[in-house]
Amino acid sequence: MSKSSGQGMCNSELPQFLIGSEGGESRELDDIDMRKISGHYREEEEEDEDQSERQIMVGICSMMKKSKSKPMTEILERLCKFEYITVVIFPEEVILSEPVEKWPLCDCLISFHSKGFPLDKAVSYTKLRNPLLINDLNMQYFIQDRREVYRILQEEGIDLPRYAVLNRDPDRPEECNLVESEDHVEVNGEVFHKPFVEKPVSAEDHNVYIYYPTSAGGGSQRLFRKIGSRSSVYSPESTVRKTGSYIYEEFMPTDGTDVKVYTVGPDYAHAEARKSPALDGKVERDSEGKEIRYPVMLTAMEKLVARKVCLAFKQTVCGFDLLRANGHSFVCDVNGFSFVKNSMKYYDDCAKVLGNMVMRELAPQLHIPWSIPMEAEDIPIVPTTSGTMMELRCVIAVIRHGDRTPKQKMKMEVRNALFFELFEKYGGYKSGKLKLKKPKQLQEVLDIARQLLAELVLHNDCEIEEKKSKLEQLKTVLEMYGHFSGINRKVQLTYLPNGQPKASSEEEGMCTVGLLR
Ligand SMILES: Nc1ncnc2c1ncn2[C@@H]1O[C@H](COP(=O)(O)OP(=O)(O)OP(=O)(O)O)[C@@H](O)[C@H]1O
Ligand SMILES: [Mg+2]
Repeated sequence: MSKSSGQGMCNSELPQFLIGSEGGESRELDDIDMRKISGHYREEEEEDEDQSERQIMVGICSMMKKSKSKPMTEILERLCKFEYITVVIFPEEVILSEPVEKWPLCDCLISFHSKGFPLDKAVSYTKLRNPLLINDLNMQYFIQDRREVYRILQEEGIDLPRYAVLNRDPDRPEECNLVESEDHVEVNGEVFHKPFVEKPVSAEDHNVYIYYPTSAGGGSQRLFRKIGSRSSVYSPESTVRKTGSYIYEEFMPTDGTDVKVYTVGPDYAHAEARKSPALDGKVERDSEGKEIRYPVMLTAMEKLVARKVCLAFKQTVCGFDLLRANGHSFVCDVNGFSFVKNSMKYYDDCAKVLGNMVMRELAPQLHIPWSIPMEAEDIPIVPTTSGTMMELRCVIAVIRHGDRTPKQKMKMEVRNALFFELFEKYGGYKSGKLKLKKPKQLQEVLDIARQLLAELVLHNDCEIEEKKSKLEQLKTVLEMYGHFSGINRKVQLTYLPNGQPKASSEEEGMCTVGLLR
């Protein structure tokens, strides 16, 4: 039983998910098994089903064309292999016709706008149910307006082509100043020399025009949503459109390709390049009819841009376009939710990143025991000519210098009753040894040293047996630094009942005092 084996997980040829309906219950649709099929574990689980075991419901709320698309199906199949994740696809007729109260329940929602999608309803659903949102819905209003997209990019400090907005809004005539010449336009005072790009403000409108300078023969290239093998046509028309609102921007000279970036969270981005539709408008296709894609490695700067776009637009799954020109990369389009097509690696990665994200966010609150699994591919084993070996990936060292301050230690014999009193006070007789480290205790030793020294000065003939020089040394050491703190001094007292000092002591310390009787 291996989690990573992709085959034989579902009982039918068709991908099988739970199709949700009213009030979170499920019902049959299109002959698809309604139960969530979470792979091979399912049958075993059912034998000793634990009623308390809670599944995390991941709702898919988008137009059917998107929910049933090939990449979505591939990714959801992989997502439902997570033991605790159940996918529920919201049927399109439920989304369009039912009130949000009757939409299926979910803990996490993958929902995104496309043509005909009732974004307002989806927003009210999230207000009602408050699921974890993979792609923020409110930001999806902005994504539909190129002016907002560019404003957000600018606010985030992301490089984008220099641009100006021509708003044909009767209420705001000051935003509609256009001066047109043969080889340039002036938009609200800002000059754009040909070649420049004219984009409808609606991001849903793909009729982007590029105007050529007279030196290149004039005219314009009219881009549109791909129709078969065409993505644009040349037009001899050199004057800009006079109805509708547009963004005018400088044309970025690339190598003729667009870099398409697809994020899955801020730390994952897939990129690929495609021939720009701005060239001759002929779409490059392979023998299977798929559009030709060129491999791309994002630079560190571009990865940072991907992270910023993903976070700024709050879209975990987010597609955007980069133009590599003049040694920089400029974002010219942010599309929001978009999956890479025809890449098994991406399907695997995307499902894994999303599944881990959902588990990380929701497992704790649903009391599901979970930690990010260690994948076989994460184990650093490398094949070599002499077999497989563990690859050394990092060395962590905690290092200190080797020159240790030498021990500073003095030894002295003491016989005075004051030392014995101290020895007794701190329980020295129990083991015959005593360590004094506390400021109060050290102060007491110092007080004794001072007292004995004072008495020695006063009466030379007194019965103090301690050596004056040793007492002075003891006093000097204990008076160092002006106060007792930390652990930079200690006094050790060892009781020697027969009056015999040890030949040597292994004890560390600054003052070792032998109590002799
Ligand atoms: N400033 C620019 N300089 C050069 N080429 C540009 C510029 N802006 C856009 N293009 C070209 O025009 C194409 C379409 O532009 P853009 O991506 O903004 O429009 P779109 O219709 O929203 O595209 P999509 O189909 O990705 O949604 C780009 O892929 C790129 O090849
Ligand atoms: Mg684009």
